[in-house]
Amino acid sequence: MDYQGFTRALAAETLPVAWLDIDALDRNANAILARAAGKPVRLVSKSLRNLEVIQHLLRRHAGFQGVMCFHPGEACWLSEQGLDDLLVAYPSLQASLLDAVVAQVAQGKRIVLMVDSVAHVDAIVASVTRWQQRQGSDLSAPGSLVQPLCLDLDLSTPLPGLHFGVHRSPVNSVKSALALYEYIAAQPCLKLVGVMGYEAQIAGVADNLPHNPLHNLAVTQLKAWSRRRVRARRQAVVSALRQAGADLEFVNGGGTGSMEFTVADASVSEVAVGSGFYGSHYFDYFRQFRHEPAAGFALEVCRQSASGYLTCAGGGYIASGGVGPEKLPQPWLPEGLELDSLEGAGEVQTPLKGPATQGLHPGAPVMFRHAKAGELCERFNELLWIQGDKVMHRSLTYRGEGKVFL
Ligand SMILES: Cc1ncc(COP(=O)(O)O)c(C=O)c1O
Repeated sequence: MDYQGFTRALAAETLPVAWLDIDALDRNANAILARAAGKPVRLVSKSLRNLEVIQHLLRRHAGFQGVMCFHPGEACWLSEQGLDDLLVAYPSLQASLLDAVVAQVAQGKRIVLMVDSVAHVDAIVASVTRWQQRQGSDLSAPGSLVQPLCLDLDLSTPLPGLHFGVHRSPVNSVKSALALYEYIAAQPCLKLVGVMGYEAQIAGVADNLPHNPLHNLAVTQLKAWSRRRVRARRQAVVSALRQAGADLEFVNGGGTGSMEFTVADASVSEVAVGSGFYGSHYFDYFRQFRHEPAAGFALEVCRQSASGYLTCAGGGYIASGGVGPEKLPQPWLPEGLELDSLEGAGEVQTPLKGPATQGLHPGAPVMFRHAKAGELCERFNELLWIQGDKVMHRSLTYRGEGKVFL
């Protein structure tokens, strides 16, 4: 949609608002299905943070299967909303949260918990034991509750002086994976059903930054070097676990930034994708793909300074992670606007400069894109679904639902 379309659609709205361009979302969804090349796509909820968007995508195509949640409380809430096949991608030791998951699993829902250590496994066993005590049932009896687990395999590829990857799971070899599997297999109330091997250094590092050929060259070479090791480690661990008797039902890998590589790995059965649906600007600079801006926010131009700058109300929605200018939101439409490097995107005021300031007057809207997809939804209570110059629908974000999980 162009600037005029957004302006017409939002004319009666009180700014700021967060918008969702329905047609762009659906085109991104089609592009993601094509990139998945037939492998199921698990929706990464942290990058969507809106129940109705998740439901829309799951209904839209059978290629979207299951949700990768970021919190056990979130998984329980999604389960209560009727969703199933929920993988909690990050471990938790909070007893009340684990108890809530176990209670859902006892009712026949599929919520898989992530583990990478004995401590995680013990906390889940304790939770199942509490459930058993409440029921007065025998855990070793056939048909009693079995909590499904997923093993988080670290796929970082460190170099001297550079940890090319993320600091998450300690399980980074066949030996450590087998040791944890044996520990899980000894618990009758648990079953290892999956492996998650997320190659963050390939999925999350841009390799096509503008005006930065040296960075692009270095990252391209590092990624090529890392890919070989990632594939070898993931395949070796999955095959060793199967040989040891693990009845793995899925192997999850990847993210928006690595889909082509991830789905080509024969050991991977499903790919996790979130950010590509909203097309946040952090993913503009990858060589292999380009998704459209499908979600963002609109600010009001509220004044014009003597120096020729326009100033918008609000806008300081900075993305998480290592701090850098790439984490700032970016003015998008009309084209020809930029942030001021000294002020950036401000807590309550965001000044803009550039040729497009000439054509804008106080009261006009400016469309912005967030650097990261889901974090946009932590700033707004609802998403306005726009199509054909009209607001067609409104859906509550997680924040709007009163669900702030982390
Ligand atoms: C475990 C895991 N899988 C997959 C992803 C990919 O998500 P996205 O497609 O939003 O980049 C992430 C993102 O950080 C992640 O933490």
